[in-house]
Amino acid sequence: MGGTATALADRLADRAQRVLVGGVSRGFNNLPEFGPLYVESAEGAWLRDVDGTRYLDCVMGWGSLLLGHDPAVVRDALRAALDSGFLYQQETQAHVELAELVHRHVPCADRVRFTGSGLEATLFAIRLARAYTGRQKIIKCEGHFHGLHDSGVLSNGATPPGEPMPDGTVVPGVGSAGVLESDATLVVPFNDPDALEKAVRAHGDDVAAVILEPVALNMGCVFPTPGYLESVREITDRAGIVLIFDEVLTGFRVALGGAQERLGVVPDLACFSKAFGCGQPIAALAGRSEVMSLLGPPGVVPMSGTNSARVLSVVGTLAAMRTLAEPGFHPRLAALNDRMVAGFTEVLTDAGVPGHVVGCGGRISVFFGLAEPPRTFRELSRAWNRDYHVKVYRRLMSHERVYGFIPLGLAPDPINLSVAHGDREQEELLDRFASAVRAVPYRDS
Ligand SMILES: Cc1ncc(COP(=O)(O)O)c(C=O)c1O
Repeated sequence: MGGTATALADRLADRAQRVLVGGVSRGFNNLPEFGPLYVESAEGAWLRDVDGTRYLDCVMGWGSLLLGHDPAVVRDALRAALDSGFLYQQETQAHVELAELVHRHVPCADRVRFTGSGLEATLFAIRLARAYTGRQKIIKCEGHFHGLHDSGVLSNGATPPGEPMPDGTVVPGVGSAGVLESDATLVVPFNDPDALEKAVRAHGDDVAAVILEPVALNMGCVFPTPGYLESVREITDRAGIVLIFDEVLTGFRVALGGAQERLGVVPDLACFSKAFGCGQPIAALAGRSEVMSLLGPPGVVPMSGTNSARVLSVVGTLAAMRTLAEPGFHPRLAALNDRMVAGFTEVLTDAGVPGHVVGCGGRISVFFGLAEPPRTFRELSRAWNRDYHVKVYRRLMSHERVYGFIPLGLAPDPINLSVAHGDREQEELLDRFASAVRAVPYRDS
């Protein structure tokens, strides 16, 4: 443990090392330089650790907690559900109402099925696309993340950019040991329709799906360039390839109907989690009836799990989704986002620190060292000043008690704000960020 360690946290860390691999129950909890935070309670935008230190939370459950910690609307729904038995693995009225809500608001969602995590949703989407097309390969974009399954983990932002190849693809970065060796996952640069066109020309008859994050929120925050998603839609349509939008991060955050609503391009399948649920362990796969009908039962691709769509998760998610669907919710979130993007930009300008700030739906990326927004993972990883980012992160954690700006891979992890980040939290965050940036002299790395 580093600068945040105190007595009880130290003792817990010692005990954890003896029973938990790497001292954590979940890999990403092992924060670079600081190890795990041992949290005692959380409320709104604040975390309190076991030694009484308060942190302004800008991770917010890795983007899940769009309503903040412990929102009353979700807590009350969960309490009520506890009184009627919370673990019968059956359908309820809440399941139907939640599916209706997704169907009503998400453009591609003719049909919906629930599962437990983003990883599962993208895994089933890919398998479903293979079953539907009778083809084996998939194409993903460099720097995009779809969960830690064999194809999701490749070139996910933790591996350096791959060398471009003549067929439009890049050499895949292997994001984990133990991944099945296979050429079934092809990787192309994001925002490069020509590369995709080439790859489809070379491999199209074997390609079941193109999967991408419609706004790339795992490599900072990178918007699709004008016309890019339209080209992807046109190329996949022409080649009979299933287009999957991984909306695990964009879903219900950038708009109620996800990036597909906001950007006006409708995929065949889409995956949701994180803000869908606002903290519940739930995900959804949604899409066109013709494709979705292959899910079993009645179709040939079984999709179920002991803990899928637990009633408690569904009831909590329904309460959260009804709040997100209230008129004015997303405009309010967009205003918060824009205010904070402008605020961070001003801090950088005042401090004379080169950088670019981009955000959507409160997921905001500060790209130190970049003069303009990046379009591809290669562009970003060339220009991003990771050393400076790490120093600011260290200062924010240890001196300013801001939990966020975590340097996870080879792209900056954006912060996640929520509607619980009110005026006071927004001001505090900008003040604390400004102090950290002022305290760390900028150097080109
Ligand atoms: C875009 C995207 N897809 C899928 C996943 C995997 O979701 P989970 O962590 O629920 O397995 C993530 C997780 O961060 C993600 O950001």
